[in-house]
Amino acid sequence: MKIAVIQGPNLNMLGIREQHIYGPMTLEQIHEQLKNAAAQNGVELEFFQSNLEGEIVDRVQECLGEVDGILINPAAFSHTSIAIKDAIAAVGLPTVEVHISNIYHREEFRQKSITAGATTGLITGFGPFGYHMGLIALMQIISEIKAATQANEEAQAE
Ligand code: DQA
Repeated sequence: MKIAVIQGPNLNMLGIREQHIYGPMTLEQIHEQLKNAAAQNGVELEFFQSNLEGEIVDRVQECLGEVDGILINPAAFSHTSIAIKDAIAAVGLPTVEVHISNIYHREEFRQKSITAGATTGLITGFGPFGYHMGLIALMQIISEIKAATQANEEAQAE
């Protein structure tokens, strides 16, 4: 099983930026922990971070046929980007959106995620652990889809 981890703008500044909101961990540390958790479950992760909306759209599109699911924190683009929402909808892969902070406890402009409207589900406010929660959810969802697809194929072959 392969999952793409896609990180949006300013998440490369974690560990430095607004530690009272996002905590002290760097993106590299979060990815290292996530990679270890994934490896223990036989899951391969592909990491990507960009500050550019178009690059995130491209990366989401590339996921088609390449990975089984997407773990994404579109960061500020969550609140603005119809293009990223459309890309997530276009590829149609199981996708979990993660926010480190609880967007519903923050400024009004952060309380709506446009991109989440195209995802399987949203995890917000659990700090970096949210990425682990998202990974667990994706592993379960992808396994269920694979098992159901296999069962259908076997039933058709009979
Ligand atoms: C964030 C929340 C966004 O509102 C913000 O723009 C970010 C990070 C989060 O993970 O809590 O950059 O996505």
